[in-house]
Amino acid sequence: MKILAIDTSCDDTCIAILEIGKQPFGESARRRPGKLEIKSNIISSQVKIHRKYGGVYPTLAKREHQRNLLPVLIRALKGNKLLKISNSKIQTLKKILEREEYLGEELEKFLKKYQKPKVDTIAVTVGPGLEPCLWVGINFARSLSHYWDLPIVPVNHIEAHILANFLNTKYKIQNTKYLFPAVCLVVSGGHTQLILMKNFGQYKILGETRDDAAGECFDKTARILGLSYPGGPAIAAEAARLKIKDYRFQIKLPRPMINSKNYDFSFSGLKTAVLYKIKDYKPVASLPVISSKLRKLKIKDKNYIRAMCAEIQQAIIDVLIKKTIKATKDYKAKTIILGGGVAANTELRKQFKTTCLTPDVKRATSGVKLLIPAKNLCTDNAAMVGVAAYYHGLKGKTKAGRDIEANANLRISQNDQ
Ligand code: KG4
Ligand code: ZN
Repeated sequence: MKILAIDTSCDDTCIAILEIGKQPFGESARRRPGKLEIKSNIISSQVKIHRKYGGVYPTLAKREHQRNLLPVLIRALKGNKLLKISNSKIQTLKKILEREEYLGEELEKFLKKYQKPKVDTIAVTVGPGLEPCLWVGINFARSLSHYWDLPIVPVNHIEAHILANFLNTKYKIQNTKYLFPAVCLVVSGGHTQLILMKNFGQYKILGETRDDAAGECFDKTARILGLSYPGGPAIAAEAARLKIKDYRFQIKLPRPMINSKNYDFSFSGLKTAVLYKIKDYKPVASLPVISSKLRKLKIKDKNYIRAMCAEIQQAIIDVLIKKTIKATKDYKAKTIILGGGVAANTELRKQFKTTCLTPDVKRATSGVKLLIPAKNLCTDNAAMVGVAAYYHGLKGKTKAGRDIEANANLRISQNDQ
């Protein structure tokens, strides 16, 4: 069977096709699970548009989703023969898409032209995310569901980030009881949460950020330093350029809440600390100014920026690792599961791996396993939405299109108990 998965929760328009064995959802599929295969995973990034503003503007993002969804769908369906047809379900479709003017017209043309592709279920992210963006994806999914008579599986974006770990791995959704309980760390632009996963579909939020998310901290500090959006990859790249032996800059930033007894985080203080450090910076007169952006900051030495980036990255990593290991020990977790855009960070991945292998952690956690998705499956994509839908579809949790609604603040423990 095939799942058509859609994610428009933030600034990436994502559509994927997943193929699962040959079986539809139901009892037989539960007994004899099929292999999960990504047929296509198309992401249309709006990064260039939002870069100018240093962050995501929801109304702008919504408009871009309206423009991008259909071309992305066509690319995702490439390989599926699109057969030409004509049909008469257009009136209801117009109603569903009345708020998606441009998309409505284009989709109408598309559906009038082509027959239903070989797809069995639609999956769509319903939250958390930017509400106007979520609605575009949902209305698109509802239109396709109505027109092609397909069920929809609503998906929680955070759960999708966690389940991205079950794409392209030896671990199958079924027969993985030995992985649980697991402690999941979801670190993205909007979220930083530690979640106890007792099994698929059984989650409890242990702690989360009280202010900025880890990715947001990367994005905001990058902006302060005159680096481009998204800040995470920009800061990581600058940090990697720092020459290890350059000790001229002894920058020390705080590690907020690192020793607190709970599993909560706080990253906004880190951003403020960076602002103060920059103010304290004493220019080295002999060095040339390196770029117009840095001239504004009156910072002449690019190694100062690099040292600052390395310290920002390390401060974030230290807090994330310490808290995750604490939760792993406290809950006797057998597995640590990472997910979300920040999990694409090379240093974070490396340091999590080495920490899990240290004798202390190995002993205290009885050799905890570590799952991290491939980098391209950490940042937003729809293949992860497809896996989550696959799991919920197996449990029979499909819905009629009209029952699907956006919930910008959807919580994972609300999702499925
Ligand atoms: O999961 P994601 O793609 O979207 C949300 O659900 O928010 O995460 C985006 C976030 C951004 O804040 C971005 O700066 C961060 O993930 N990010 C990174 C890296 N790649 C993306 N942060 C650190 N290092 C990276 N390599
Ligand atoms: Zn995300």
